[in-house]
Amino acid sequence: MKTVWVNTVNNDYPIEIAPHLMQNTAAFGQVFNRFAQAVVITDENVRKLYGRQLVNQLRQSGLQTELLSVPPGEPSKSMNQVGKLFTRLIERQITRQAVIVALGGGVVGDLAGFVAATYLRGVNLIQVPTTLLAQVDSSVGGKVGINHRLGKNLIGSFYQPQHVLIDPYVLQTLEMRERRAGAAEVIKYGLIADSGLFAQLETSLEALLDLTDIDFVATVIEQCCHIKADIVGQDEREQSFRALLNFGHTVGHALENATQYRVFLHGEAVAYGMLAALHLSIDSLCSTSLERAIQLIRRLSLPPIPQSITVDQLLSAMQQDKKRRPSGQTWILLKTIGSAFMSENLPEIRVRQVLNDVLLARRVKK
Ligand SMILES: NC(=O)c1ccc[n+]([C@@H]2O[C@H](COP(=O)([O-])OP(=O)(O)OC[C@H]3O[C@@H](n4cnc5c(N)ncnc54)[C@H](O)[C@@H]3O)[C@@H](O)[C@H]2O)c1
Ligand SMILES: [Zn+2]
Repeated sequence: MKTVWVNTVNNDYPIEIAPHLMQNTAAFGQVFNRFAQAVVITDENVRKLYGRQLVNQLRQSGLQTELLSVPPGEPSKSMNQVGKLFTRLIERQITRQAVIVALGGGVVGDLAGFVAATYLRGVNLIQVPTTLLAQVDSSVGGKVGINHRLGKNLIGSFYQPQHVLIDPYVLQTLEMRERRAGAAEVIKYGLIADSGLFAQLETSLEALLDLTDIDFVATVIEQCCHIKADIVGQDEREQSFRALLNFGHTVGHALENATQYRVFLHGEAVAYGMLAALHLSIDSLCSTSLERAIQLIRRLSLPPIPQSITVDQLLSAMQQDKKRRPSGQTWILLKTIGSAFMSENLPEIRVRQVLNDVLLARRVKK
């Protein structure tokens, strides 16, 4: 069992990572024995795969357990689903002593986390992430929330879980495309904070994606969680430093937005965003590092960018991005592989040129 601690202002909590953790009754007993009641919130795909197994574990640990599920996919991060979940929690007389267990990818983690943060002004939360993206990123750090008709992730809170339980083995059932998208965030950690991790990915990206060596996968997840825990521990509410985690996300979000969230998975858009950010880093980043980073990202086999996307569309989507500061656009750039920094207001002409040359040159007719 690998343990990474997250230390925040209000609580410290462990992330536990172990292959076959979902089957480890003793480990579950230790984590859950202080609760009497659990509500597992999941989506319908994950419920079919792991719902029963998790409910059985919790019941064996002596908890009275309910299982609630929502349809899979981003539209479930909505007020509508939050309202339905509240109704079911109230009907089942779930008390403040209960624990909500978020079993699923980032959608479930954000949604169930938001419900846990607000139901009865906050109940216990344990994250059991089941996608690579959720295991290395969204389940750690306490950002929970839902979407609004006018934009993604606009309603939410910072609400740390009591525990994160990660079983890399559940990635076996995750589609390869989803694994690749999660791997984009893993590459991001290497680029912004860990040249050793980056070098490991250069030799073993395919082993991570194919899950050929599950202990290696667990180690990579642990390294990513360490980096995120470190950053979150220093700047929980993203007043400065935490923004480094947004490397590749300025352009990534714009691409997702310009394609109405229908063409790219989040990690795929971020991978393109990283390519743009790397090219915008050429004043600080040497050409060898730039080339190494591009080569690794190419191995993710990204879907092509639709022909209809224009530079103006991307720029206007960026201007709407909520992360934009009053002073202007903040860019996360690289100094070297393993070290990132924040930069304000790059000249628009340069941004246009990179978007055009690096991204739009890869467009295809749909
Ligand atoms: N809170 C944060 O800090 C943070 C960070 C990054 C992303 N996010 C959010 O995360 C969401 C994306 O998360 P995601 O990429 O995990 O997507 P997701 O939750 O939609 O999961 C992707 C798909 O995989 C399925 N699935 C999940 N686990 C599976 C498994 N083990 N086997 C088979 N299928 C499985 C799901 O049912 C779904 O269809 C977005 O809403 C994004 O805003 C949040
Ligand atoms: Zn991301």
